[in-house]
Amino acid sequence: MSKQGSHHATSAAAGTRGGFSSGLGVLAATLGSAVGLGNIWKFPSLTGANGGAGFLLIYLLSTLLIGLPLMIAEIAIGRQARANPISALRQLAPRGAPWWLIGAAGMAAAFLILSFYSEVVAWVFAYVAKAVAGRLLSSDPVQTQASFDALVRDPVQSLVWQWVVLGLIGGILLLGVTKGIEAVTKRLMPLLFLLLVLLCGYSLTLPGRAEALSFLFAPEWHRITPAVVLTAMGLAFFKLSIGMGTMMTYGSYFTPGQNIPATAVRVMLADLSVSLLAGMAIFPAVFSFGFAPSAGPSLVFITIPAVFAQMPGGQVLLAAFFILTAIAATGAMLSIMEVPVAILHERWGLTRPRATLLTLFVLMLPGAGCALSQSTLAHVRPGGRTLFDWADFVSSNLLMPAGGIAIALFVGWAWGERAFAAQLSNQGTLGNQGLARVLCLLLRWVTPVLILLVMLTGLGVFAG
Ligand code: PHE
Repeated sequence: MSKQGSHHATSAAAGTRGGFSSGLGVLAATLGSAVGLGNIWKFPSLTGANGGAGFLLIYLLSTLLIGLPLMIAEIAIGRQARANPISALRQLAPRGAPWWLIGAAGMAAAFLILSFYSEVVAWVFAYVAKAVAGRLLSSDPVQTQASFDALVRDPVQSLVWQWVVLGLIGGILLLGVTKGIEAVTKRLMPLLFLLLVLLCGYSLTLPGRAEALSFLFAPEWHRITPAVVLTAMGLAFFKLSIGMGTMMTYGSYFTPGQNIPATAVRVMLADLSVSLLAGMAIFPAVFSFGFAPSAGPSLVFITIPAVFAQMPGGQVLLAAFFILTAIAATGAMLSIMEVPVAILHERWGLTRPRATLLTLFVLMLPGAGCALSQSTLAHVRPGGRTLFDWADFVSSNLLMPAGGIAIALFVGWAWGERAFAAQLSNQGTLGNQGLARVLCLLLRWVTPVLILLVMLTGLGVFAG
């Protein structure tokens, strides 16, 4: 155990450290992290575009064999150490082995994700404002495409909205873990479910229902290529917020009595429900009004406004849809930004406000790179991808899986089954020891190999 690590752990134990105050708070914050743009902006279009049920199956397998064990592992590490990812791994690593590098890589990944994520949330916020003002509705997709282009190709609007979003998230983080993250997600998550169920219920009364369900769920096996498998696994990482320190950080705020595996399973199931509900809210409407389901940002920002324009009450529905998306994204953004804030606060000894401000400051450059990737920097396309697309690809398909491999190896080989089982069973008071043994075996032998294979085949390493 390093001197510094134990010093920080002691000062944390002395009561200066924030945390979630109740089981409900733990659940709201953790679910708030998992639920985000991934459910609304990635899941439906990726599933539709990559072969429906086949993709869903691979996504589910990745979630069960890779995602859940890693999520449980990360939360357990965090709660054992009660510290940010870098300090936690320093503290738990045997004989000063450099496992803390996982935390450092996670912090880098957090900055990368924040850079592009905040820009998509920026569009969402801009659309909330427009929808409320009634300026979005047009049943002509050419028109809705033009208004989306006008937004993303305008460098000033792109940057200003990004900073509105970052300022808001930073502001909530300034309030702390309990009064900021927990209080906000506790209020927002129920609202999210309510809006989603209402939208979904409405959408499923539309005539395009059958076509939508078959688009989402009919398996088209020939679409499953190695690259698609990597995409599905990347989505599993992105969805469960794993492989980059978020779950470790939140785990460090878990209450001692919280049943970690049960919480992880609940969060995974609730998150999956949100994804499926989002798909069932979006596609019936799309098909009912004769649109082709498009992928990626155009589905949410171009097709949806055109579709809703044709529905009775479309104005209200559209505002509800973007408010829902903004809510989902807020909880996720809080959890990504909390990783660098916790590290800077605890390891570098900055106050929380200073740590938050420094995080925002560091974000300015990569954030602007993504924000301007369709305007001022549109011509910067190394390897055919914009900076925005690179940030998205590198984080989900490289950094998070690589972090996942390292975390699995750490728990399986370095930290060890006994400590892991003690965390999962709350020092023997819960009957999770058998589960801990199985998970430890998975983390030791299966999870890392599986991730590596999917990464290498997906990246085409075996193709030549
Ligand atoms: N899980 C979030 C989503 O689906 C994204 C996220 C990634 C959050 C990594 C935290 C950490 O939108």
